[in-house]
Amino acid sequence: MSRKLIIAGNWKMNYTMAETKAMLTELKAKVADIKSIDIAICPTFTSLATAVEVCRGSNVGIGAQNVHWEASGAFTGEISTEMLRELAVEYVIIGHSERRQFFGETNESVNQRLHAALAAGLKPMVCCGETYAQRQGDETEAIVSAQIKAGLAGLTDAQMAGIVIAYEPVWAIGTGLTASPQQAQDVHALIRNLVREMYGAVADKVRIQYGGSVKASNVAELMSCPDIDGALVGGASLKAEDFSQLLHNAQ
Ligand code: PGA
Repeated sequence: MSRKLIIAGNWKMNYTMAETKAMLTELKAKVADIKSIDIAICPTFTSLATAVEVCRGSNVGIGAQNVHWEASGAFTGEISTEMLRELAVEYVIIGHSERRQFFGETNESVNQRLHAALAAGLKPMVCCGETYAQRQGDETEAIVSAQIKAGLAGLTDAQMAGIVIAYEPVWAIGTGLTASPQQAQDVHALIRNLVREMYGAVADKVRIQYGGSVKASNVAELMSCPDIDGALVGGASLKAEDFSQLLHNAQ
């Protein structure tokens, strides 16, 4: 079954509006020829409006890095689905490991955010992945299984088909250590099987990104694995030249 690659840049807490405008103006020109990959950039909340404006009509979609499940209320520092929709944001990252590590995100809150995002018509990229200690302790399968089962609970088959899952081993994020293609493929196959147990044949439609030190030099090998359908890229998505090279190499 062929699935269209989806490669997203997660800018984390980087770039002002002015920097966002400059980078995306350069990037969209460099990647305008790419038809075979869904491309997305997820800047900070404050740069979303600028990013949407710069990329309108191009093949670069824009996503947020988080969204809250309530429509409004006393949730200091959070953003609602309606606020993102008003900006014409298309995608949203949910449950990134930095949210889990530093901001108390749990599998349950991931599930709440996911349901809200889907109800609002946003396209979620839901993250999972084990820490170094968990991999050393042979807990990868248990941890990722719990993240998938609880995080993706209670969806319709149609909703599940539209979700992107990002497998990001925490030990590979920002460290320069990449999972080997075989290590990544093994966990991607595990995730697809879990989705099959939960939702049946729709599992073959779900795109699973790999994330963790993906760069222009290793992307092609990772994308050649049968269950790897894209990438979530941090550091190598910040410079237009680097990210353009990565996208071209992934084709
Ligand atoms: P990295 O980050 O590519 O810098 O390792 C990936 C991510 O956190 O999504």
